[in-house]
Amino acid sequence: MPPAARKSACAVSSESGIELLNSGSSPPNKDIKTKKPLIEFLNVSITPSIDAEPILQGVNLQILPSTLTMVVGPVGSGKTTLLRALLGEVHMNGTAIGIDQTSAGYCDQVSWLRNISIRDNIIGPARFDEAWYDTVLSCCLLQEDLREISGGDTALAGSGGAILSGGQKQRVVRPSTAHISD
Ligand SMILES: Nc1ncnc2c1ncn2[C@@H]1O[C@H](COP(=O)(O)OP(=O)(O)OP(=O)(O)O)[C@@H](O)[C@H]1O
Ligand SMILES: [Mg+2]
Repeated sequence: MPPAARKSACAVSSESGIELLNSGSSPPNKDIKTKKPLIEFLNVSITPSIDAEPILQGVNLQILPSTLTMVVGPVGSGKTTLLRALLGEVHMNGTAIGIDQTSAGYCDQVSWLRNISIRDNIIGPARFDEAWYDTVLSCCLLQEDLREISGGDTALAGSGGAILSGGQKQRVVRPSTAHISD
């Protein structure tokens, strides 16, 4: 990552070893000063529950609109916990302006599927658009998998996606999410 891009990235808790890296597509430096952050944490500590020890402490971050940010850090350093904090799903102390949940999609490390048809899992709450659906199936390489499943995309996914393999679950779950991916 070029030094200029890194400069515009907003670091998080140095203790945790997590770093936020802004992509090269971040707005020019002059815009960084004038744009209002979409998400902002000031000295936030994050705990899984009210009386638990913090997983992350002293978190300071700013995420500006129209930027791509990557959360990078060692295994178990708290990347997922940080994303859950952005969604307001864990307990936090400090000043936090979180994400507008109505416009957020989150693709968890552990896939979450409902026992409805594979097609309905993929479409989620969106309106069915056949051309777009076919594009999505093709991009996620699902067409061949669906040919091998009895009932194809009308088959029930089973409890927690039980009829699908781990890789298939990820490919069914991902199309229905956007914006935030873990
Ligand atoms: N609900 C919870 N209760 C207690 N501890 C938790 C909870 N969730 C996560 N942790 C702990 O917080 C730490 C950070 O976990 P987290 O899953 O956020 O790490 P990660 O950086 O996403 O790891 P990975 O690279 O494996 O995905 C771990 O030590 C984990 O055991
Ligand atoms: Mg994780």
